[in-house]
Amino acid sequence: MQDVFFYSYLSGMATKLISNIQQLVGVRNENKLLRGKELSELPIIEKAYLVVEDGVITSFGKMEEIPASANSILEIIDASGQTVLPCWCDSHTHLVFAASREEEFIDKIKGMGYAEIASKGGGILNSSKKLNAASEDELFNSAWKRLEEVSSLGTGAIEIKSGYGLSVEGELKMLRVIKRLKEKSNLTIKATFLGAHAFPLEYRNNHQGYIDRIIFEMLPVIAKEKLADYIDVFCENGFFSAKEMEVICNAGMSYGLKPKLHVNQLNSIGGIEAGIKLNAVSMDHLETMTDDEIKKISASATIGTLLPTAAFFLRMNYPPARKLIESNCAIALASDYNPGSSPNGNMNLVVAMSCIQMKMLPEEAINAATINGAYAMEIEKKTGSISVGKRADLIFTRPIPSIAYLPYSFGANLIDRVMIHGEWI
Ligand code: NIG
Ligand code: FE
Repeated sequence: MQDVFFYSYLSGMATKLISNIQQLVGVRNENKLLRGKELSELPIIEKAYLVVEDGVITSFGKMEEIPASANSILEIIDASGQTVLPCWCDSHTHLVFAASREEEFIDKIKGMGYAEIASKGGGILNSSKKLNAASEDELFNSAWKRLEEVSSLGTGAIEIKSGYGLSVEGELKMLRVIKRLKEKSNLTIKATFLGAHAFPLEYRNNHQGYIDRIIFEMLPVIAKEKLADYIDVFCENGFFSAKEMEVICNAGMSYGLKPKLHVNQLNSIGGIEAGIKLNAVSMDHLETMTDDEIKKISASATIGTLLPTAAFFLRMNYPPARKLIESNCAIALASDYNPGSSPNGNMNLVVAMSCIQMKMLPEEAINAATINGAYAMEIEKKTGSISVGKRADLIFTRPIPSIAYLPYSFGANLIDRVMIHGEWI
């Protein structure tokens, strides 16, 4: 240990000692996607220290066991009274968009439904029109602000989808914006190609025509420029059928893009079975699930990602979190940050809402929003828990009596500061 510290000092590597941590939450020696009972196990060390070298966690433990050599570390951060937990891993967002849609919010208050708004050219098509009119720089600048906002709220890793272009140029523009965000940001970012978010008006009666554009005009460029990590399809009545989803995903997979899918938000139309067959990394939403579908997804390797703020905003039933956990499904929580169904990317609120409305235990919600969220982006070796060798992506809270206080005091900002890859944001 001594040698390591001495070496860091000599080579000028940034070493930080975080001392007197009231509670160090989410400490793990081994990585595991959590299911069933495991989801409620959130390991905590009381009165802890943690060492960060070059942005990575190199050791942690109880204060009384702090190695003597740690005294030689120049930068000491006193975290007295603070709880430290891993940053949120938000595995489902549509963070790049051109404009808000509060006019539809008012239409919905007056009684119009999500599907009705969509059929009138509102919804996703409304966002698409605005996105195609916006420049790449405008999109980058507004997305950057949102990224800064969510990272100050504790998000350290995030998945971002395309899907408001719905044209070759529009989809590529969105994905290039995400690529620029990846290059400039300290956060871990994954990009998902969601060209199959809705059929553009001119393809309403020519589904194959649009699917061909996705397969033959968009995917080859995306693969060539390495613009995406995953492929997504909105499988829903009035959008893409399960069969169409399979065709599109198979094409994406031939370019190395694994599926992460929108299924069972409003209707159950075979998306779950198709997604399992495709070996999807995750299937997201799941507001409308039959018992049989719960059984099937639970028996599969696919993660079920729940987006409670979208259900809240659309006044829908919440996903059956308890049933999913009880049947051993691996679940993650994400914000779905987008202008239509969740104009908010605050993962603290997602965690609170999961406890309040879906009856998840605070420990379950925190695990689902950290380590399982990391698995839903396949970045579990890098982040999602307090583990030696992982990035120091850390939330420092204001003084709180216990970890349950976080979701209990919903809506309050209890974050004092956030460290991403060893640097304060
Ligand atoms: O995840 N359901 C499909 N896509 C988004 C909503 C997109 C929009 O309304 O702009 C969602 O909820
Ligand atoms: Fe979504």
